[in-house]
Amino acid sequence: MTLIKQLKLSAAVLALTATTAAAADVEVLHWWTSGGEAAALNVLKGDLESQNIGWMDMPVAGGGGEAAMTVLRARVTSGNAPTAVQMLGFDIQDWAKEGALANLNDVASEGGWDAVVPAALQRFSKYEDQWVAAPVNVHSVNWVWANKKLFDDNNISVPTTWEEFEAAMQTLQDAGVTPIAQGGQPWQEATLFDSVVMATGGPEFYQKALIDLDPEALGSDTMKQAFDRLGVIRENVDDNFSGRDWNLATAMVINGEAGMQIMGDWAKGEFVAAGQVPDEDFLCFRFPGTQDQVMFNADQFAMFDQGGTVSEEQAALASAIMSPSFQAAFNVVKGSVPARTDVPDTDFDACGKKGMADLAQAAEADMLFGSLAQGHGAPASIKNAYYDVVTAFFNGSFDSETATEELVTAIEIAQ
Ligand code: BGC
Repeated sequence: MTLIKQLKLSAAVLALTATTAAAADVEVLHWWTSGGEAAALNVLKGDLESQNIGWMDMPVAGGGGEAAMTVLRARVTSGNAPTAVQMLGFDIQDWAKEGALANLNDVASEGGWDAVVPAALQRFSKYEDQWVAAPVNVHSVNWVWANKKLFDDNNISVPTTWEEFEAAMQTLQDAGVTPIAQGGQPWQEATLFDSVVMATGGPEFYQKALIDLDPEALGSDTMKQAFDRLGVIRENVDDNFSGRDWNLATAMVINGEAGMQIMGDWAKGEFVAAGQVPDEDFLCFRFPGTQDQVMFNADQFAMFDQGGTVSEEQAALASAIMSPSFQAAFNVVKGSVPARTDVPDTDFDACGKKGMADLAQAAEADMLFGSLAQGHGAPASIKNAYYDVVTAFFNGSFDSETATEELVTAIEIAQ
């Protein structure tokens, strides 16, 4: 064996050893790697440490969890599943279907989860009447984050229609500021497109096209118009967007390099981590045309079945996640809102309070929609097909008409 091979082997063995948890540890696979996310994660770690449960970190960056899910598949295949895994909507259901997830019913009934977790979340947390995941938050993707000073200096008021949004981008452009801070990764472009589709076609159209996957809606003129609008947004992004991480795009708004970012409310975690305050330093508002809708995704923790029953540490993690005080403390930092309906909004800032009120109102009015880009519209194969087409369009490979046709085909093949 060559020295290089030997070194590689030792590194692999070390990596394997490093991923084997001690008895009283939980090993958590997640994609919370930005500053704001790390701060939120520390709230969870601290909570567990106070119960003498150690934390083994297994971070795999990438919103939407695509990369994390690839690592997870490899770990499970090699018989070394992590104890607990951050997961979104349909991924939870897929793993539950495979029989890989531990049954959390005992912890759930002890904590009375049935009564406090909204039905839209339970639909993903439960599989065949068994609790298989503990929801830690509700995020929503149809938000715009804006630099307040740039808005004030340029007399821009919060846009409420597409036309006003276009005008705001033009004003920023004229002032020599990058209007839209965008990260160049497929999941980010698709997350943005969710909002554009909702705003362009309205809630019924979004439901038909991106949740029911109706080929007619997918291939319609309305979808083409949504791509046209995405094209307009693309023209308002700087030249260096390719490959940029989402939190670096948020930083551009924080430091006044760009006017706005269209992104899920995890972006707020970055403003908070930078010491910024809503309505003083930054603004949060719904993507114009989606004011009545909440397009959500919920981070949940699924426990991998480690041989029949839930371990003590897994149960402790699940019940820590679901405690009302933890849900407040965590979500204040994370940018999301609690996954329980009984947590008061007292500790939340203006954007958090708005997020909580919007969620309650949308749930009441049947205006709560799963985000396709964030794993709550359709299973991963379809989500990934959607990523491919949207990113190809954003990067100039298709015009709107071709993108619309490609979307129909890609989603048909993925089903
Ligand atoms: C998760 C958020 C996370 C974001 C960016 C989303 O898929 O739901 O919790 O902050 O990705 O990493």
